[in-house]
Amino acid sequence: MRILVTGGAGFIGSHLIDRLMEQGHEVLCLDNFYTGHKRNIEKWLGHPYFECIRHDITEPIRLEVDRIYHLACPASPVHYQFNPVKTIKTNVIGTLHMLGLAKRVKARFLLASTSEVYGDPLVHPQTEEYWGNVNPIGIRSCYDEGKRVAETLTFDYHRNNGVDIRVARIFNTYGPRMFENDGRVVSNFVVQALQGIPLTVYGDGSQTRSFCYVSDLVEGLMRLMEGDYIGPVNLGNPVEYTILELAQTIQKMVNPNADIAFKPLPQDDPKKRQPDISRAKTYLGWEPLVPLQEGLTKTIADFEERLNASR
Ligand SMILES: NC(=O)c1ccc[n+]([C@@H]2O[C@H](COP(=O)([O-])OP(=O)(O)OC[C@H]3O[C@@H](n4cnc5c(N)ncnc54)[C@H](O)[C@@H]3O)[C@@H](O)[C@H]2O)c1
Repeated sequence: MRILVTGGAGFIGSHLIDRLMEQGHEVLCLDNFYTGHKRNIEKWLGHPYFECIRHDITEPIRLEVDRIYHLACPASPVHYQFNPVKTIKTNVIGTLHMLGLAKRVKARFLLASTSEVYGDPLVHPQTEEYWGNVNPIGIRSCYDEGKRVAETLTFDYHRNNGVDIRVARIFNTYGPRMFENDGRVVSNFVVQALQGIPLTVYGDGSQTRSFCYVSDLVEGLMRLMEGDYIGPVNLGNPVEYTILELAQTIQKMVNPNADIAFKPLPQDDPKKRQPDISRAKTYLGWEPLVPLQEGLTKTIADFEERLNASR
């Protein structure tokens, strides 16, 4: 198949491209390189079945494809809050363009949505039926509300225009190729521990998150795309850790001498986040397989290599 991956030079997108290329598909990577990097897709540059187009999805584009994995959007608060209006444009205008393309060429369209559509959830764990508790005017709203509109657009194109859609709600994902300084908790802790500086825990560290290793997530996205179930479906690891537990785990693995420093909790930071993955299990036969320690070992090795190369 000819498969388009928007945001393909980013963290998740590049791992997805690796799998698709290994399966022998023809892959088109569309990216404006805002948070993506050429090194993530370097090994495929020059491959006859691979093409990379530098393009901003807020501008229209015409392509012939069978599948669209729509991932383009900065995922970390540092990057999506840097230019919030641009984040909304990417989520709304960008998604409109990709849905328009899917409609024109009759491609199947998968939206990479997020657990952030649940906001600061009042239901725990979060099932797909839950409508969320989102602040419409906060500093995270450009991303949270942007993705909510992206979901709405996707379902409206399905109902009104017959576009074949899939919607994944992705929970915290980690692994090699995450940005070093993106403010996400796993990358923060790993970089801080490797540099021997205190690991920053916001609040008292009792807020919880679940962490899905990127290979598990990519498997879930591919099963969703090629299955019959349109979603929305939660993809994440239901094993819940407090932020303090995560900090201590990374501290032990990387640098037992590193300190842990506590700082005030940022605005709208969700206190609890854990996916209910019953739908993914039922409809996709999917559940995460990689335990945290194993995923962290690979992630730490990758960060170490990059930090050493930049010294
Ligand atoms: N990583 C996670 O934990 C997580 C959780 C929930 C949802 N998601 C979603 O998954 C997708 C991929 O996330 P990621 O972690 O790989 O993030 P990332 O920032 O590494 O990748 C996003 C990619 O999109 C590109 N991009 C951004 N704006 C663009 C635009 N206007 N035009 C073209 N390209 C653009 C970036 O350059 C980058 O390569 C995102 O849509 C994100 O919202 C990720």
